[in-house]
This record gives sequence, structure tokens and C-alpha cells, in this order.
Amino acid sequence: MINIAILGFGNIGSGVAEVIEKNQAEIKNVLGDNLHVKYILDIRDIPGVVNDINIIVNDPDVKVICETMGGKEPAYTYTHLALEHGISVCSSNKELVDAYGVELSAIAREHNCSYLFEASVGGGIPVLRTIREAFGHEKVSRIAGILNGTCNYILTNMKAGKDFADALKEAQEKGFAERNPAADVEGHDTARKIAILASLVSGKKFSYEQVSCEGITNVTQQDIKDAEAQGMSIKLLGVYEAETQSVNVAPYLVPASSPLYGVNDVFNGIMVTGNMVDNVMFYGRGAGKLPTASAVVSDVIECAKTLGRNVKDGLEDLEPVASVNAPAKPDGQKFRVL
Ligand code: HSE
Repeated sequence: MINIAILGFGNIGSGVAEVIEKNQAEIKNVLGDNLHVKYILDIRDIPGVVNDINIIVNDPDVKVICETMGGKEPAYTYTHLALEHGISVCSSNKELVDAYGVELSAIAREHNCSYLFEASVGGGIPVLRTIREAFGHEKVSRIAGILNGTCNYILTNMKAGKDFADALKEAQEKGFAERNPAADVEGHDTARKIAILASLVSGKKFSYEQVSCEGITNVTQQDIKDAEAQGMSIKLLGVYEAETQSVNVAPYLVPASSPLYGVNDVFNGIMVTGNMVDNVMFYGRGAGKLPTASAVVSDVIECAKTLGRNVKDGLEDLEPVASVNAPAKPDGQKFRVL
């Protein structure tokens, strides 16, 4: 039996416990052992839950920790501490990966454990693992992705005639939105995700602060109707271009000929272009309790299979990129066209 702990028992953390409980037979089959949630830590006083991280990191039974707290603190301090104790950490926390991923990756290597973060980008879509394992030999020229489930849900519902505020409320009720939904609708969440993807494929650290970022708050019903009349759909995209070293987040007009056009509701779509493989499209639920928790559990299984060793995470020794460009917007136009 492999003992794990979950830090943060909100939407995703409780989802991790649920995935482990419901899919124990499948987990046993792939891992050759059972996963057991020995501790749950939360800052709230919930019966059966611990509040002190030291209890967890000082228990030699604990082999893997899931960090599903979100935000920088105390997630950074707890992750640092766990890795220093040789305990692998699997995170859904894109804010932490963006801000401290390179440092945490180095600490994991130093202590023969791993820092994995599949759930931080694309919810349940195994895009980071695929990029790490299957695209290492590719020169990735471009990534264009619908990376925020909440914004895609809002834009899809606005196209169907719903009001922005009502659609956002629904996305919050369904557990898609961030605690502060401004991070979704102003594009910051997408910026963190595209910065992580750009870092993994370019070998340089792109950070969220460098990304030119425009959200969906200025997109009107009329814009959506006008786009529809031209056979296009408005999507919030994160776009990375290797040649111009540009990364930006903005609402784009997506033509019907693009596979991203039909990505609706909470779904994410990520188009990765490699010089040999050409276009590869990833599609799946970009937010929500169980899809995101499933991605965390996939990392837990990888860490549990490799105890005492470090798994490459793609952030090894990345130097910060000097500057990041943004593609120009066509003169007089509100939106770029994909
Ligand atoms: N708020 C995020 C989204 C959650 O809507 O995509 C998943 O990262």
C-alpha cells in the first residue's frame, strides 16, 4: 500500500480522494499496489483533517503529496518542505508552477523525488505528460490553446444568448471558476497555462508576468453575432510562437476550418505544432472536480511507480527568457484572427 496525503480539501482535493476510492481496482492494476489517503490537510477545522504539515512530512509512511490548495502560500512553503523530505508532490496549482516551478523542480531532483503538475494545464487532458514524453524530439513551432474552461463556458453560453454574468455564475456553481473569477475572465489563468506550455517546449522559462494578456470582459453579444456572421467563433486563446518568441492571451476570431472552432462549454482544446509531427490537437474537460483530480492521480501513480527517483518534469534548469513579444493586432480591428 502506498500512503499519500492531500493538501487542500476543496473541489479538486476531494475529487482526488473520490478518484482513488472509485477507481481502486484500476489503480491497483496499473500500479501493482493500492493508494491510501493517510492524511488530508486543510486550513479549515474539518473532522478527521489535520492542520499541521509537519505531521505529514515527518511521517515516513507518506510517499506522495497532492497539493490542491491553489495560490502561492502556504502551498509554496508546504511543497518546499515536502520535497526536502524526499516526498514527491503532485500539483494542480498553476500559479505555483508558474512562479516557483523551476526552483521546486530543482529541489525535487536534489532529494530524489518528483514535482509533477499535469493538472495545472488543461484539466483532465494529459497534455504535459505527452509533451514531455512524446514531443521531446520535436521542434515545437506553435501552441494555440483554449485553456480556460470558465471563459469557454461563458463565451459558448453568450453565443446561445445568455448574459455574461449569468454564465459566469453557472461556471462558478459547477466548480469551474477560480476562487477569484477575475483570474479567469481577465485571462491571467490562461496566461499562466500558456507560459507553462511555452516553457516546456522551448527550453526557456516564460513567466506569466511577461505575457501580454487581454481577457473576455470586453467581448459583447454583438461581437459574437458579427463573428458568427463571418463563419467564425470568438475564443479566448493562449498562443505561443517559437519563431517570434511571442506569447499572448486574447480573444481571437477562430474560423470554422480550425479544430478549435468546435471546442465548446468547459472543454479545452490545445493545438500543438511540431516540425515533424505537424498539428496535434488535444481535447477534453479543462476544468471540474473529477477530470482535474484524475490528472492529479495520474501524477501520483507516476510518482508511486518511481519512488526514490526523480521523474523529469520539463522545467529542469530553465533560464528565464529575456523578453516576450506579442503579435500585433490588425489596424482598427478589435480581434486577431487565428
Ligand atoms: N478556473 C480554471 C478554468 C480551472 O476555468 O479553466 C482549471 O484550471
